[in-house]
Amino acid sequence: MTLLVTGGAGFIGSNFVLDWLAQSDERVLNLDALTYAGNLRNLASLAADARHVFVQGDIGNRALVDRLLAEHRPRAIVHFAAESHVDRSILGPGAFIQTNVQGTFTLLEAARAYWSTLAEAERAAFRFLHVSTDEVYGNLAAGAPAFTEQHAYEPNSPYSASKAASDHLVRAWHHTYGLPVLTTNCSNNYGPYQFPEKLIPLVITHALAGKPMPVYGDGMQVRDWLYVGDHCSALRAVLAAGRVGQTYNIGGWNEQPNIEIVQTICALLDELRPSAAGPYARLVTYVKDRPGHDRRYAIDARKIERELGWRPAETFASGIRKTVQWVLDHAGWVAEVQSGSYRDWVAVNYDQR
Ligand code: NAD
Ligand code: DAU
Repeated sequence: MTLLVTGGAGFIGSNFVLDWLAQSDERVLNLDALTYAGNLRNLASLAADARHVFVQGDIGNRALVDRLLAEHRPRAIVHFAAESHVDRSILGPGAFIQTNVQGTFTLLEAARAYWSTLAEAERAAFRFLHVSTDEVYGNLAAGAPAFTEQHAYEPNSPYSASKAASDHLVRAWHHTYGLPVLTTNCSNNYGPYQFPEKLIPLVITHALAGKPMPVYGDGMQVRDWLYVGDHCSALRAVLAAGRVGQTYNIGGWNEQPNIEIVQTICALLDELRPSAAGPYARLVTYVKDRPGHDRRYAIDARKIERELGWRPAETFASGIRKTVQWVLDHAGWVAEVQSGSYRDWVAVNYDQR
């Protein structure tokens, strides 16, 4: 059996593929366009593993997706591929509409065409798992109850609007065509292989380089942080036993203001890699706020716990320590990403094959 994973060279996708193949012998067909965020170095340990088949390509390329579905006959699609960074969506929303909306539409149409050719038992077992975000729910007032699956969609950034649009398409393809879909809406992830444009890896790498750690606005925006391995285990649970057509919120039960996250990272670095120049907190620098910045997100993850028995395994204390240590242990990965040379890995590893 085969899973088609889209965006499997990105942060969460590569963690998912690595975790999947550590626990199962089911093949993974990994379709990823290798945008700036896709890094095959993340999957270097699978280079000689026949269970992992990598294809560089765009989810918006219908002919390619049709061919891959016909050739590999996956029993499920796990759809991570997206433009994922809010700040980039503010500077250039076009790519977000193209991949997150148009790309998801193309993937859904290809999946529907393929699914309709399957024998009855395979049709019933097929799943399209759409990996989405808590940002579709918009801003949560201080003290308001955390987002449940019933919360109204109120996206506020080009990124979250494009993800909300994709969620609506996925829902409609189930209600109209019967495609067996599952949607997950997860909170902020952190952990190994996160591109250092996002808060946690950016702050760690800036601190180690002695550069200012930029905190937007007053630093009191609240996010609900989840270790990436816990997101992956939640996705496996939803894929295995989620009810078709349902959405599941995934979160860490760990709301914290950004400035506290930054202070925790500084304290860990002071312990693990003390700087001769003094405590890392000296580098904290408040900068102009993000336009339209949502003040608070928080996930009510009781449905997935009740129905599927999932809860995060990591606490924030254990997850952030692992993450800081991972960055310290992977200076080469960080340097390659920062220099752009991680892109050479494709030529090194694949051009000779
Ligand atoms: P990422 O930016 O690290 O990775 C995205 C991957 O998708 C990259 O490998 C990129 O090359 C690939 N990609 C982009 N456009 C493509 C296209 N047109 N065709 C094929 N591949 C393409 O993102 P991430 O943080 O790993 O997020 C993965 C998914 O999870 C996204 O859908 C995101 O919305 C969702 N999500 C992320 C978080 C988070 O905190 N990072 C939280 C909740 C949900
Ligand atoms: O909530 C889930 C979402 O989390 C995912 O859907 C997105 O793909 C993912 O990028 C993330 O979005 P955020 O905008 O919350 O993540 P980011 O790491 O960019 O920012 C986290 C918080 O930190 C946010 O309030 C903005 C702030 N921030 C971010 C950066 C990059 C700073 O204060 N300084 C920074 O330099």
